[in-house]
Amino acid sequence: MKKVIVTLVALMTATVWIGTQASPETDRAAFEKFFTQKFPNTPTADFVNGVYSIHAPSRAQWEEIEEFPPYELSIDAGKTEWNKAFANGKTYADCFENEGAVRGSYPYWDSDRKEVITLELAVNECRTANGEEPLKYSKGKMADISAYMSYQSRGQEINVVIPDDADAMAAYDRGKEFFYSKRGQLNFSCFDCHGGGAGSMVRADTLSPAYGHTSHFPVYRSKWGGMGTLHRRFGGCNKQVRAKPFKSQSPIYRELEYFLTYMNNGLVYNGPGARK
Ligand code: HEC
Repeated sequence: MKKVIVTLVALMTATVWIGTQASPETDRAAFEKFFTQKFPNTPTADFVNGVYSIHAPSRAQWEEIEEFPPYELSIDAGKTEWNKAFANGKTYADCFENEGAVRGSYPYWDSDRKEVITLELAVNECRTANGEEPLKYSKGKMADISAYMSYQSRGQEINVVIPDDADAMAAYDRGKEFFYSKRGQLNFSCFDCHGGGAGSMVRADTLSPAYGHTSHFPVYRSKWGGMGTLHRRFGGCNKQVRAKPFKSQSPIYRELEYFLTYMNNGLVYNGPGARK
C-alpha cells in the first residue's frame, strides 16, 4: 500500500481549476488542449478508446478482445428487453424514438424539473410511467438496455448543451467542482489520476485520460466479470481513494456526468465497450 501511495503522490501535479469563472466552452477547449498536448501521438477522435488510445501494448490485446466482444450478449439481452411488451402492452419504443438510437440526446438539462436527465434515469422513468418496477442502476438489465441503446446510437456526436439558465450552469459547476475536488483518505481528485496522472501506472493499471471518458458506456469489465454503467465506474473510482461512493443516478453523479460529457463534446459515442 505504501508504494501505491508514493506513486499516487507523485501524480499530484495537477492544477486545480475550481473557482475559475470560465464559460463551459472555454473549459472544454482547455480540457481538450490539455489532453491533445499531453498525448500528441493520439488522434483526437481516438480518445474515446480510453487507455487504449495512449498505451500501445494494451491496445493490441484489446483489439483482439474486440473481435469477439464480451458485451455482445448484453446487447442481445437488451434487444430482447427492448422488444418485450410491458404489462400494459407498451414497450420502450413508446418512450424513446428512433429504435432506441437516442444516446446522443443524453445527458440533458430539463429546465422544468431543474435537473440533469441521463439515459438510465429516463429508462427507469419509462418503466415506472408504464407501471413497471424500476431496475437497479449499476448492472444487470439496466446495463443490457443501456448497451442495446448505446449500440443503436454508435456514431452519434456527443453534443451536451448547457442552456442559458443559471440553474443549469450551477449543475455544471457542481459537476466540475466534484471532478477537481480532492477526496477520500488518499485525497485525490478525478483529475489527479485521469488528468495529471493519465498515462502513469497505479498498481497494475495505466491511467486513462479523462478526455473521452463517457463515450463508450456501459462497459464489459473483466474485473467485474460483467457489464456496468458509467455510474458504477464513478462509484468504483470513489472507493479507490477510500471515499464514500454516491448512489448511481444520485444528483451529484448525474451532474458529474453532465460536466464530463460536456468536456467530450465533438467526440463520438462508441459504446458499449470492453475494458480490463
Ligand atoms: C487513484 C486514482 C483514481 C482516481 C482518483 C479516479 N480514478 Fe477513475 N480510474 C482509475 C483506474 C485505475 C481506472 C482503470 C484504468 C483506466 O481506464 O484508467 C479508472 C477508470 C475510470 C473510468 C473508465 C475509463 C474507461 O475508458 O472505461 C472512468 C470513466 C473513470 N475512471 C472516472 C473517474 C472519475 C469521474 C473520477 C473522480 C470521481 C475518478 N475516475 C477518479 C483510477 C482513478
